[in-house]
Amino acid sequence: MADKKIPPVMTTSQGCPVSDPFKTQRVAIDTSDYKHAQPPQGPLLLQDFQLIDALAHFDRERIPERVVHAKGAGAFGVFEATDDISDICKSSFLQKGKRTRTLTRFSTVGGEKGSADTARDPRGFATKFYTEEGNLDFVYNNTPVFFIRDPIKFPHFIHTQKKTPQKNTMDGNNAFWDYLTTNPESIHQVMVLFSDRGTPASYRKMNGYSGHTYKWYNAKGEWHYVQVHMMSDQGVESLTVEQAAKHAGEDPDFITADLFDNIEKGNNPSWTMYIQTMTLEESKKLPFSVFDLTKVWPHSQFPLRRFGKLTLNENPKNYFAEIEQAAFSPSHTVPGMEASFDPVLQSRLFSYPDTHRHRLGTNYNQIPVNCPLKSGVFNPIIRDGAMTVNGNMGSHPNYLATQCPVTFAKALIPAKEASTATIGGLGEEKHTGEVVPFHWTVTDYDFVQPRALWKVLGRQSGQQRNFIHNVAVHIANSRPDIQERVYDYFSKVSKEIGEGIRREVQGISSRAKL
Ligand code: NDP
Ligand code: HEM
Repeated sequence: MADKKIPPVMTTSQGCPVSDPFKTQRVAIDTSDYKHAQPPQGPLLLQDFQLIDALAHFDRERIPERVVHAKGAGAFGVFEATDDISDICKSSFLQKGKRTRTLTRFSTVGGEKGSADTARDPRGFATKFYTEEGNLDFVYNNTPVFFIRDPIKFPHFIHTQKKTPQKNTMDGNNAFWDYLTTNPESIHQVMVLFSDRGTPASYRKMNGYSGHTYKWYNAKGEWHYVQVHMMSDQGVESLTVEQAAKHAGEDPDFITADLFDNIEKGNNPSWTMYIQTMTLEESKKLPFSVFDLTKVWPHSQFPLRRFGKLTLNENPKNYFAEIEQAAFSPSHTVPGMEASFDPVLQSRLFSYPDTHRHRLGTNYNQIPVNCPLKSGVFNPIIRDGAMTVNGNMGSHPNYLATQCPVTFAKALIPAKEASTATIGGLGEEKHTGEVVPFHWTVTDYDFVQPRALWKVLGRQSGQQRNFIHNVAVHIANSRPDIQERVYDYFSKVSKEIGEGIRREVQGISSRAKL
C-alpha cells in the first residue's frame, strides 16, 4: 500500500516506471508543409507496451456479476459468542467469550449490479466467519421463509424477475405474478415481501434469518434441528412504497452509502443472534415439514435462545477486491454444523461453489477475502488451475496413498473431525429408500401461516392498509387477467385482502384516466 503522503511512482503492470502516463508512441509523418503547426500524427506502434498494457487490462476489467444478488454492500466485523450453547453445537468459534473476524455482504436479489437499493425484494444477509476450523458462511435473507420449496423452480422464478427475452423490460410485472399465482406455496414469502418489510430503510435496520433448517451437533454427537435469527440491535425500519420509489430515482445507492457512512463514523451496527432448536421427535409432531422453506417455527413453541453478537466495524478498503470478489456458500461449513435434508438447501450446497468457479475461477478460495486462516488449509489433491498464487503446496506429493505415510498423517485432520466438516458425513443416519419423483403439492396448511402474518400486520398501525396499497401499485400495469389471478391468490389467505387490492387497483386506474 502506497504511503498517502508520497505519491506513488506510476509504473506499467510489470513495475517499469512510466515517464508520462498519457503518452502514446506513434510514427510521426512529415507535417512540415501543413499551414498550421501540427502535433505528431501517424499510426501507433505495437511495441508500445504501456498503451497495450492499459487497454488490454481495461478490456478485461469486468467479471460476471452474480446471477442473483448482484447489487450489494459489505463490511468486516467481529462475532462474539456471548452465551454457552455447547449442549447444542460443538463448533469451536461458539465457545463462550470467543471472538471471530467476519465479513458480511448485504444485497438485493433480482436486479442488476447497477439497480436501486430500495427495490421491493428480499435482502441477502451473508456472513463469512474466519474460524480456526475453516471458513463458515451463513448465507441468509432478511425474511424467514422463501418463494419455493422445490429447488428446480428457482431458475423459473428468478427469470420472472429479469427483463423479458425480447423486449428487455419488466413488462408490467406480468411474468412475476403469472409465476406466483400458479405456484401458491409462494404466498407466505409474498406476504412478507409486500408488507413494508419488503423495502428496508437500511441494511442496518433489518433482521437476518437462516430460513432453512440446519442440523447442529454437540461434542457427544447429539444433534438438533436449528434455525438462526439475527435480530438488528438498531430495530427494524422500513420505507413506504413512495419513499422507496423516490430514493430509487434520486439516489439508487442510498442504502449502500448508509452502511458505509455509519461505519466510517464509528456508528457500528450490530445484531444479536439467536437459535430456535427442535428435536427429531418434536419435528414428527409438527403439522408441516421442517424441510419446508415456506414455513416458520412458531415462537411460542420454539423460543429464541441467544448465542452471540455480530458487529460490523470495518469498511472495505476496496469494493471490488473485498466485496465483489467475496464468495459465500451454505456448503462452506465447520465441524458441528450441517445442512438438513431441505431440498432447496441441498441444491444450494452445489450451486454456490459452482457459480464461484464460473464467476471468480477455480481458485476462488485463494482470493484473500475468501482465504481460510492459513493454519487451516492443506489438501494435496486440490492443486494447480488458473491463478494459483498460494505456493501450491510446494514439493508435497500430489496424492495420498490409502496407507498414508506418517509424514502425511501429521498434516491430516483427525478422521472424527473430518466427518462433520463435510456435508452428510455422519454415520448414525441410515439413508435407504426408493428414488421418487419429487414435487411438493399445495395444501390448505400452506395458507395458515400467511393468515397468522396478516394478523401480525393487523397489530401494527397502517400495516394492512400499506400491504394492500403495495400490491396494488405493483400490479397496476399488469394484464387484467393477471390482476384477477392476484385477487384470487390473496383471497385464499383472506377475502378481505383480495377485495381490498381489487378496490385499490380500480382506484388507481380511474385516477389515471382523469
Ligand atoms: P409471533 O407473534 O410470536 O411472531 C410474530 C413475528 O412477526 C414477530 O416476532 C416479527 O418477527 C414478525 N413480524 C412483524 N412484522 C412483520 C412484517 N411486517 N413482516 C414479516 N414479519 C413480521 O407469532 P409466530 O411465531 O406464531 O408467527 C406468526 C407469523 O409471524 C408467522 O406466520 C410469520 O409469518 C411471521 N414471522 C414469524 C417468525 C418466526 O420465526 N416465528 C419470524 C418472522 C416472522 P421478528 O421478531 O423476527 O422481527
Ligand atoms: C446468491 C443460487 C436460494 C441467499 C446466490 C447466487 C446463486 C444462488 C447462484 C450467486 C452467488 C455468487 O455469484 O456469488 C440459489 C439457488 C437457490 C437459492 C439455486 C435455491 C434453489 C436462496 C435462499 C437464500 C439465499 C433460500 C436465503 C435463505 C442468497 C444470498 C446470496 C445468494 C444471501 C448473496 C451472497 C453474496 O452476498 O455474495 N444464490 N439461491 N439463496 N443467495 Fe441464493
